[in-house]
Amino acid sequence: MSDVLALVREDLRGFAGYKSARSETMRGDVWLNANESAWPNSADATANSRRYPDPQPAALRDALAALYGCEAPQLLIGRGSDEAIDLLVRALCNPGKDAVVITPPVFGMYAVCARLQNAPVIDVSLREVAEGLEPDLDAIAAAAIDARAKLVFLCSPSNPAGSAIPLADIARLAKRLQGIALVVVDEAYGEFSTVPSAVTLFSGCSNIVVLRTLSKAHALAAARIGVAIADASLIEVLRRCQAPYPVPTPCAELALAGLAPEALAETARRIALVRSERTRLQAALADLPGVLRVYPSQGNYLLVRFGDAESAFRSLLAAGVVVRDQRGAPQLGDALRITIGSPEQNDRVISALQLQEAAA
Ligand SMILES: Cc1ncc(COP(=O)(O)O)c(C=O)c1O
Repeated sequence: MSDVLALVREDLRGFAGYKSARSETMRGDVWLNANESAWPNSADATANSRRYPDPQPAALRDALAALYGCEAPQLLIGRGSDEAIDLLVRALCNPGKDAVVITPPVFGMYAVCARLQNAPVIDVSLREVAEGLEPDLDAIAAAAIDARAKLVFLCSPSNPAGSAIPLADIARLAKRLQGIALVVVDEAYGEFSTVPSAVTLFSGCSNIVVLRTLSKAHALAAARIGVAIADASLIEVLRRCQAPYPVPTPCAELALAGLAPEALAETARRIALVRSERTRLQAALADLPGVLRVYPSQGNYLLVRFGDAESAFRSLLAAGVVVRDQRGAPQLGDALRITIGSPEQNDRVISALQLQEAAA
């Protein structure tokens, strides 16, 4: 058994999952094995939705593997990276026993999925340092070993803090946790970062899982396409724990079109624009007297501390600009998270906050 497979819940290692009609390879031209309709819906212009979809559409899987620099068998397509998080927790953690380490303040779904699985959640808070809010990797390793955690979720770039973790640090952590826990590197915002993907660490560390998504830089949030990239044996287990048909055909078609060369070139131009707007917005916000701190960000958002976050939030809302209130999150009692918008939208953020300060 591989090192990684040994971390999977013992009762699920040999689990076959649901055997769908699509998972059986048979030849024929009259398909009467899945109780589908013989005719397309009259609204289905392409007539592609009459049949259940391929559980892992091969063309999309190949395109995503090429995009993320891995082999197709190392990649699982799911309903957003949200689903990958859920599958990992379910497949690795025995309820009430195996813990999950997270680094608050951080994306909420790790804790939600752990809670649903009744997996203990171990918090190792980000540290406020000169460079920003950063994870303490030694403390994470110690906590994971101490709690016998099966999963460590690293968010890089981190939502909402914005910091990215150097690859050498991730590799060191993964090596320390080899045979103990999986290190999941959530790279939902990886396209906006200068740090390369942790997929490049796979050859040395089999216990790394990378999460990617088409929801952010690729502008396809509604298509719900996210992936887990990992050791092929783990990907097989996750697939068997997944719903029978997780990738709707219209979503797969849209995603494939969104990965065509022209679409990718446009995405690259938008990423460049987001990065330059991030620099511009960061400088403009830092200039405002009411802003206490703008964290450096490798994502498509900025975490901002305000002297009066309530007024800032209300002024933005009054100007029709909705940002994410972070005040309920640990350590962020005075912070808002502002997504980088178009240059015009960012101008609206700046002028609403300037106006509020002028009126104060
Ligand atoms: C860090 C992080 N991971 C994962 C997700 C989920 O993305 P998806 O749309 O792929 O489910 C988000 C969404 O906001 C996120 O911020």
